[in-house]
Amino acid sequence: MTNASPIEKYCFVSIYSYSYEEYKETADWLLANTDIRPKVAIICGSGLGGLADLLDNKNVFPYNTIPRFPHSTVQGHKGQLVFGELNGKQCVCMQGRFHFYEGYNVATVTYPVRVFFLLGIETVIVTNAAGGLNPKFKVGDIMLIRDHINMPGFAGQNPLCGHNEERFGVRFPCMSDAYDRDLARLARETAQDLGCASFLQEGVYCMLAGPSYETIAECRVLQLLGADAVGMSTVPEVVVARHCGMRVFGLSLITNKVVTDYDSKERANHEEVLATTRMRTEDLQKIVSNLVTNM
Ligand code: HPA
Repeated sequence: MTNASPIEKYCFVSIYSYSYEEYKETADWLLANTDIRPKVAIICGSGLGGLADLLDNKNVFPYNTIPRFPHSTVQGHKGQLVFGELNGKQCVCMQGRFHFYEGYNVATVTYPVRVFFLLGIETVIVTNAAGGLNPKFKVGDIMLIRDHINMPGFAGQNPLCGHNEERFGVRFPCMSDAYDRDLARLARETAQDLGCASFLQEGVYCMLAGPSYETIAECRVLQLLGADAVGMSTVPEVVVARHCGMRVFGLSLITNKVVTDYDSKERANHEEVLATTRMRTEDLQKIVSNLVTNM
C-alpha cells in the first residue's frame, strides 16, 4: 500500500492504491515460477471454483505464497491461483475472489486483475452467484451478463478513484462496451450446442456492497432501475479489466429469486445459494470450458 497521490491527505474517504511496481513484482514472481503463459483468466465465484480442478498440468499458488498478493480470510475458501490447461488451452483460475463485504478496499479486491494484465492476459471471464430480479428468471438459470450497474461506484467506491496509472489505462475509460459482444454470441452458441439453452438468460447485473441481502423496497428499486440480477461482487474487477483493455465475459448463476412481495414467506439465505450452486456448477463449468476451447 503506498501513498500514490498527495491528494490523499485531503480525501473525504481514504483512497487506497498500489504502485505499478507492486503489481509488477507479483507478476514477475509468477512468471518466474510457472512456464504457463495464459491469455485467459477465470475468476471463479463462490462455490464455482470447481472449474480450476478441471485444469491439466496444474501449477497451484496459494494466495499467501505469492508476493504482495492479498490473503484470503474466508474459512473454507481455497484461496489459490491455479495455472494450467483447460482442454489444451492455457489459462489461470482464481479459486476464491476478494469481496468488498469482507472488508477489503476496492484496490485490493481488484489487485489480481492488474496482475493478470501484466501476465499478458487478454480475456477475463467472471462468474458469480446472484439473486434473480427479473420475474422471468428461474432458480438455476445462468445469466449471460450484458451490462452492469456499479452501485458501490455510485457511492464513490470505484477502483479507479485516485491516481491514474497511465501504464494500465486512461483516466476516463469507456464502459459502454464493458462486456464483449462477440464472446457473448459465442457463449450463446456454445450453450445451445451443449443443450443448456433452456436455462440460459441474458441481462444486467447490479452489484451492491452486501453482506446483508436486500430489503423488499431495495429489490423493487433495482427492478425499476433495469437490473435483472443482484450480487456482491464482479463489478470492480470488470471495471479494472476494461481500464486495462482486457476483454470481459461474465456469467451469473441465479441461485435464488429475490423477494419483492410483503406477503411472501420466502427469505434470501446463504443455504439456498449454496444448494443451487451445487446443482448447476457442472453446467456452468461446461459452458465456460467449451467457450474457452472455442475462443
Ligand atoms: N442478493 C445479493 N447477492 C446474492 C444473492 C441475492 O439475492 N444471491 C446470491 N448472491
